[in-house]
Amino acid sequence: MDAALRHVLPATWTVRDGRAAVGGVDLGLLAERFGTPAYAVDEAHVRGRLAEYREALGEEATLVFAAKSFFCVAMAELLHEAGWGVDVVSAGELETALRGGLPPERVLLHGSVKPERETERAAAVGVGRVVIDGPGEVATLGAAAERAGRRLEVLLRLNADVAVRTHPKVTTTGTTTQFGMRAADTAAAARAVARTRGLELRGLHLHAGSQVRDLATYGRAVRALVELAASIRELIASGPIELDVGGGLAVPYRREDPAPSPAALGRRLRDALRAARATERLGPFRLLVEPGRSVVANAGVTLYRVGVRKRLADGRTALLVDGGMSDNPRPALYGARYELVLPLRADEPHRTPFDVVGRHCETGDVVARDAPLPADAGPGDLVAVLATGAYAHSMSSRYNGLPRPPVVFVRDGAAREVVRRERIDDLLARDAGLAAPAWRPAGAGDGSASRRSATGGPGSRPASG
Ligand code: LLP
Repeated sequence: MDAALRHVLPATWTVRDGRAAVGGVDLGLLAERFGTPAYAVDEAHVRGRLAEYREALGEEATLVFAAKSFFCVAMAELLHEAGWGVDVVSAGELETALRGGLPPERVLLHGSVKPERETERAAAVGVGRVVIDGPGEVATLGAAAERAGRRLEVLLRLNADVAVRTHPKVTTTGTTTQFGMRAADTAAAARAVARTRGLELRGLHLHAGSQVRDLATYGRAVRALVELAASIRELIASGPIELDVGGGLAVPYRREDPAPSPAALGRRLRDALRAARATERLGPFRLLVEPGRSVVANAGVTLYRVGVRKRLADGRTALLVDGGMSDNPRPALYGARYELVLPLRADEPHRTPFDVVGRHCETGDVVARDAPLPADAGPGDLVAVLATGAYAHSMSSRYNGLPRPPVVFVRDGAAREVVRRERIDDLLARDAGLAAPAWRPAGAGDGSASRRSATGGPGSRPASG
């Protein structure tokens, strides 16, 4: 196995007699037992990264995992054991966190839109922090807190001109993005929060972007946060002011990619806080981080079975696998590129380029272009796509009627299907057909008005009155 691949692989990846194992479980046997496609997750790798972040940032920092990158009850349980919190953006993620036993006070609720019923639920269970994304949220959140008979502790999301070098689709600060508030609006929102009975201001948040390789970005984010925090410091009655720098640390997807470590991030943050004279200007403060991808990406591999080998008219050779953009939309969305290994032929040279594509009805359904594999790779071969632990399972869909793959945690020679494979029954469970009970909006009578409008030609409106 190529040593340069090491940092892309799950920590417990081993090869014996040409067969790869993760967590001591042979990937060929795993594929036979749980089928393909399947997401295999190295539990020791995830635990190791959680511990590494704690070591890098110290006991005083608050660590919250970004659920959007990968979430299920088992992940919530691992976070609970490790003393982490979680960042959720929806009621679905919130309930998963609670099901996994995470105490509500360790949940941080984000969201550029927070539907009222979700805010109500968050207030009722008593989430630890809510990040306010826009000025309009102050009143609605305050009202929800009062109805729940609680005070909600909040951070304000700052949108500052922090230069970020990453894919434009995952740049989340600056004048062209919809997230957070510009400095003046954030300061105004801080004053509004201070006047709102149900709310308590705790600090500021700034997530600059995702898959960020250049750690100088965090220095710039810290500077922007400290600058504004100094001007609103007196609005926080007691305790440290919180500075949440978001997540975003990059991971290596390919052998040549850099792999900035949590330790390097920790050093950079401390240096930036010192340079910004945070202690002198703010008094006691607390750092929060929200990493997702860098905790789980390299822990996961996706297993596919090759169904078809085809020579294309232009001379290239395609291998078609039994999954694709429904279980990992990242190549189609961001042009993401991955490393592939045939886990049952791991000792053989992987040198012949193939276009590995999915089974969906789109030419854009690419798994990896020009992926070097053994020259005779073909139907029946098992393929492992590396570093798919983040934003694959969480972004999966049922496109083309494909049930979603299982998530299989592996550890110490045992595998657990922590999220079972979806079944065709699951797909059909909410599909009522024309037998769905009819609902008529109040006052719509026998429906003749809508019939009229339906036949009234383009642009016609239902009759009023
Ligand atoms: N905090 C906030 C407020 C975020 O918006 C995000 C990611 C994170 C934390 C975690 O960032 P991470 O450490 O995972 O980079 N689907 C895209 C990534 C979208 C990230 C959006 N926000 C992808 O597959 O690359």
